[in-house]
Amino acid sequence: MSTHPGPHGGPSLPQRRNLVTEIPGPMSRQLFERRQLSVARGLSHVLPIFVTAAGGGVVVDADGNSLIDFGSGIAVTSVGNSADQVVSRVAEQVAQFTHTCFMVAPYEGYVEVCEQLNRLTPGTHDKRSALFNSGAEAVENAVKIARHATGRDAVVVFDHAYHGRTNLTMAMTAKNMPYKEGFGPFAGEVYRMPMAYPFRWPGGPARCAEEAFDVVTNLIHAQVGEENVAAVVIEPVQGEGGFVVPPDGFLPGLAEYCRTNGIVFVADEIQSGFCRTGDWFASDHEHVVPDLITTAKGIAGGLPLAGVTGRAELMDAVHPGGLGGTYGGNPIACAAALGAIETMEKEDLPAAARSIEAIMLPRLQKLADANPVIGDVRGRGAMLAVELVRPGTLEPDSAAAAKVAKACHANGMIVLTCGTFSNVLRFLPPLVIGQSLLLEGLSILEDAFATL
Ligand SMILES: Cc1ncc(COP(=O)(O)O)c(C=O)c1O
Repeated sequence: MSTHPGPHGGPSLPQRRNLVTEIPGPMSRQLFERRQLSVARGLSHVLPIFVTAAGGGVVVDADGNSLIDFGSGIAVTSVGNSADQVVSRVAEQVAQFTHTCFMVAPYEGYVEVCEQLNRLTPGTHDKRSALFNSGAEAVENAVKIARHATGRDAVVVFDHAYHGRTNLTMAMTAKNMPYKEGFGPFAGEVYRMPMAYPFRWPGGPARCAEEAFDVVTNLIHAQVGEENVAAVVIEPVQGEGGFVVPPDGFLPGLAEYCRTNGIVFVADEIQSGFCRTGDWFASDHEHVVPDLITTAKGIAGGLPLAGVTGRAELMDAVHPGGLGGTYGGNPIACAAALGAIETMEKEDLPAAARSIEAIMLPRLQKLADANPVIGDVRGRGAMLAVELVRPGTLEPDSAAAAKVAKACHANGMIVLTCGTFSNVLRFLPPLVIGQSLLLEGLSILEDAFATL
C-alpha cells in the first residue's frame, strides 16, 4: 500500500503544475532512504520523486506535487499514463486470465496485436510478428531471425547507437559509461560504423548523407565483407545517443544497399515508433520499408511489451520453438497495446505529435538564438532535442545540460538528458499533453537556460 494514496491517476487528473514542497519533498526523501537500503545502487534516477499518480501531461508525487511531464517515462506513455482505453482493457483482461504462456496455449489478444503491427508498420508486403517483454529482447530476436534467415553472422551497428542492456545489445550499444563499463566480454561479430550525424559530420551537414553512405559501405566492404553481414541495425532517429536525425537520403540509401547485398535491414523503432515522430514510424518519413522492425515503449501505454515485425519469409525462416519466452506477449500487456493503438488511431496521435513540433520547434530555435550554448536544435514530432556545446565549437557541454535539467526539475518539470557526451536535453512529452502545459513547460525551460 502506498503511504500517500493521493488522487487517482489518468487523464482526469488536474492538468496543472502545482508545487507544494521543494523537489523532492519530505515524503519522497523518506522513501528514498528506504530505497537506499533495499534497492541496488546500479539503478539510478533522473529525479527521485516517488510517484503516486500520473495522467495526461502531469506526474503527481507522494508530497502532492504535480509536475509537467516532458519525459513520458522515456518515450513510453505516448497515450498518457493510465489512459482510459488502456485501463479498461487491462481491467477486463486481468479479470479473465492473467497468463497461459503463448507457447503453452495461445489467446486472441496476442494474434490481434500481431495483426495490428503487421497492418501499421511500413510496407504492404506479407508480414509476421512475434512479441517479447522488452526492447532489448526484441532487438536480440531480430538479430536471431536475421542470422537464421541469411545463414550469416555479422551485425552492423552505428556510432551513438543504443539497443539495450543484455549481452548482445550491450555489444550493439555504443556508449561505454554507464551501459557497458565492467560488463564485458561482449558478444562478437558486431561491427560499428560512423553515424550520419549532420551536426558533427566533418564535411558539414550538406555533405553528410552522401559521405556517410560512402564511408559506411566502404568500411563494410573492407572490414566485414558484404556477404558476411546478416543485418544492418539502425535507429531511424537515434534515441539515447542524442536524438540524432540522419540527413534525408541516408536511410533510403542504406535500405537499398542492404537489399542489393542480401542484408536484412532492421529499423530499431523502439523509441521513435508509435506516432512519436509525427508518423506512425520514423521510417515512414522517407518511405523506408525495413525488412524487420523492432517496437516497444509506446506500444502498450506503459505495460511491458515489445515486438519484431517483418517480411513473412524472414520471420518464418525460424523453426517452430526457435523463438519465444515465458512472458512474451503476456495477455495483459496485449490488452494494453490494443487499448493504446485504439487511442492512437481515434485521437490521431501522429497529428498530435506534429502539432507539438509546430509549437515547440520555433520556441527551441528562438532559445538557441538567445543562448549560444545551444549548438543544434533537432528532432521530429514530439521527439525533440537541443545539443549543448561550448559556444561556437563542437565541444560538448554536459555540465550545462545537467544544470538546465536540474533547474527544470526544481521548477516542477520532468526533463531528460541523453547523448554519447551527455550534453543533449531531450523533450518527449506525452502526445496527449494539453497546449497550456506544453507552453508552460517551454517557459520553465527558458527560465532554466537563464540560470546558466
Ligand atoms: C532504440 C532503442 N532500442 C532498444 C532499447 C531497449 O529497450 P528496453 O529498455 O525496453 O530493453 C531502447 C531503450 O531505450 C531504445 O531506445
